[in-house]
Amino acid sequence: MKVAFAKPELPEQGAYAVGVLEGRKLSAAASQAEKATKGAVARALNASRFKGGKDEQLIVLAPQGLNVSRLILTGFGNPAKLTPQDFEAIGGRLVAALNAAGDREGTIAIEAFAGAQLNEAEIAARIAVGARLRSYRFDKYRTKEKPEHKPTLKKLTITLQDPAAAKKVFEPLDKVVDSVIVTRDLVSEPANIIYPETLAREASTLSGLGVKVEVLGEKEMKRLGMGALLGVGQGSERESQLVTMQWNGARDPKAKPVCFVGKGVTFDTGGISIKPAAGMEDMKWDMGGSAVVIGVMRALAARKAKVNAVGVIGLVENMPSGTAQRPGDIVTSMSGQTIEVLNTDAEGRLVLADALWYAQENFSPGVIVDLATLTGAIMVALGTEHAGLFANDDTLAEQLTAAGKETGELVWRMPLAPAYDRLIDSPAADMKNIGGRYGGSITAAQFLQRFIHKGTPWAHLDIAGVTWSDKDKPTIPKGATAFGVRLLEQFVARGYEKK
Ligand code: BES
Ligand code: MN
Ligand code: ZN
Repeated sequence: MKVAFAKPELPEQGAYAVGVLEGRKLSAAASQAEKATKGAVARALNASRFKGGKDEQLIVLAPQGLNVSRLILTGFGNPAKLTPQDFEAIGGRLVAALNAAGDREGTIAIEAFAGAQLNEAEIAARIAVGARLRSYRFDKYRTKEKPEHKPTLKKLTITLQDPAAAKKVFEPLDKVVDSVIVTRDLVSEPANIIYPETLAREASTLSGLGVKVEVLGEKEMKRLGMGALLGVGQGSERESQLVTMQWNGARDPKAKPVCFVGKGVTFDTGGISIKPAAGMEDMKWDMGGSAVVIGVMRALAARKAKVNAVGVIGLVENMPSGTAQRPGDIVTSMSGQTIEVLNTDAEGRLVLADALWYAQENFSPGVIVDLATLTGAIMVALGTEHAGLFANDDTLAEQLTAAGKETGELVWRMPLAPAYDRLIDSPAADMKNIGGRYGGSITAAQFLQRFIHKGTPWAHLDIAGVTWSDKDKPTIPKGATAFGVRLLEQFVARGYEKK
C-alpha cells in the first residue's frame, strides 16, 4: 500500500474518510460531505450510536451526491487530547476498514483542529505511519490465496492544506516504519529460512546504509573464549554467529556509543531439556531481540541519526543432538566466569552473557540495553501489554519508560536485588543458569547483571510477552510486532542524539 499527501479535494473514486469530533461535531470536510449528500451524514449519525469517539467509525455506503464507494465517518474525539499514537491508531483502523470493505483506494481529509497538540502536517504524518504499520502482512509463502481474499487497498491519500509539510514530517518516520517492517519480516520467517548464518547475512545488508557490520563465526568465538554462547549452539548443524553493527553518526566520532544487544536464538527446542511439542513452533521467534537490534540500527542509519550506536547480536540454534550440551555441563564464559548449565532451555542468558561481555570489552558503551525473549515467567507477570524492564540505573529506567509511553511500546520496571542474585549461586561453578521456581524473570535478569561491568548503565528488556501478537491491534496486525524498534529509536532520539 502506498500513502500520498495531497491538497484538499473531494475524491472521485474509492472510499472517503472525514472526521467527526466528540459530540458529533462535524469537521469542515464532514460538513462539506453533509452538503454534497444533502444530509446523509446527519441522517446516518441519527440512525447510529456513533458519538465521534477517537476509536469509532461509521460507514455510509454509496452516498448520493458523492462519487465514492463509501463515506467513513471517522471519530477524532477531542482533538486537543489526541496524541501522536491516537492518530496512528486512527490511520491503522482506517486501513483495516478499507481492506475489510474491499476498497482499492481511500482518501482521508485532515484539517487543523483548534487546540490540538499536533498541527495538520503532524496529524497527517501520524495517520500515514499508522496506516503503513497496519497494512503489514507476511504472506510470501501463500501461493494459493484467492485474489478476493487478499487485502485490496493499494493507495491511501491524506489531504491537507500543506502536503509538502506533511511529507517532510513523514520522511524520518517513514524510515522507522520501513525498519519495523524489516524486523517483522525477520521474526515471521520460519527457522528453516532464518538461522544464524542467514540472519547474519540479513544484518550485513545494513552496510548499504553506512553501517559497519562484522560477523564472527565459531572459530573466532572459540578463540575469544565464548564458551557460554558456543555451548548453546553446539548441538546444532548450523554454525553460531556473532554480529556487530556500528553506526557512527555523532559529531564527535569518539563519543561513547549507545549499545543494543539482542538474543538471537533462531530456534529454541529447549535442547536436551526439550520443550513440549505443543506450541514449540513459536520458538522460531526466539530471535526477536536480535531482529529488533537490526531494526533499530537500520532506523538510526536510515535517518542518519546523530549518535554513535552499536548493535551486537548472538545468533545460535538450540537443538538436541549427540553433540548437544547436557544438563550439568559447566561452561566458561568469555568473562572467565563459569556456569553450571542445569537446564539447557535457559539458553538465552548464556548467549547474552558472552554477547554482553563482548560488547563492553570492544566498544566501552556509555549505556547498554539488551532485548531478549528470555522467560515465559515475564508473560505470567505482565501478560502481553508490557515488556519487563530491569535496570541498574534509575535515569536509564525512566528514559525507557518515557519512550515506551510515547511510542505505545510499554515497559514495566521489575526489581533487581542481592537476595535474588544469591538464588543463582552454584556449589559446582560460579553460578547456575536457573534459579528456583519463583521469580524466574528476575533471576534471569540477575544472571545477565553478572556480566555487566561495574559502572556501566544497563537495562534489560524481557520481550517474551510482546514480540508476537495473537490479535490484531490498531497499528499491529496479528503476528510479529517488532516491539522495541520504535521504543529504542525514540529513546535515542530523545536522550542520546545531539542535533
Ligand atoms: N525462549 C524461551 C522463553 C519464551 C517462552 C519466550 C515463551 C517466548 C515465549 C526461553 O529460552 C526459555 O525457554 N525460558 C525458560 C527458562 C526456564 C528453563 C528457567 C522458561 O521461561 O520456561
Ligand atoms: Mn529456552
Ligand atoms: Zn529461548
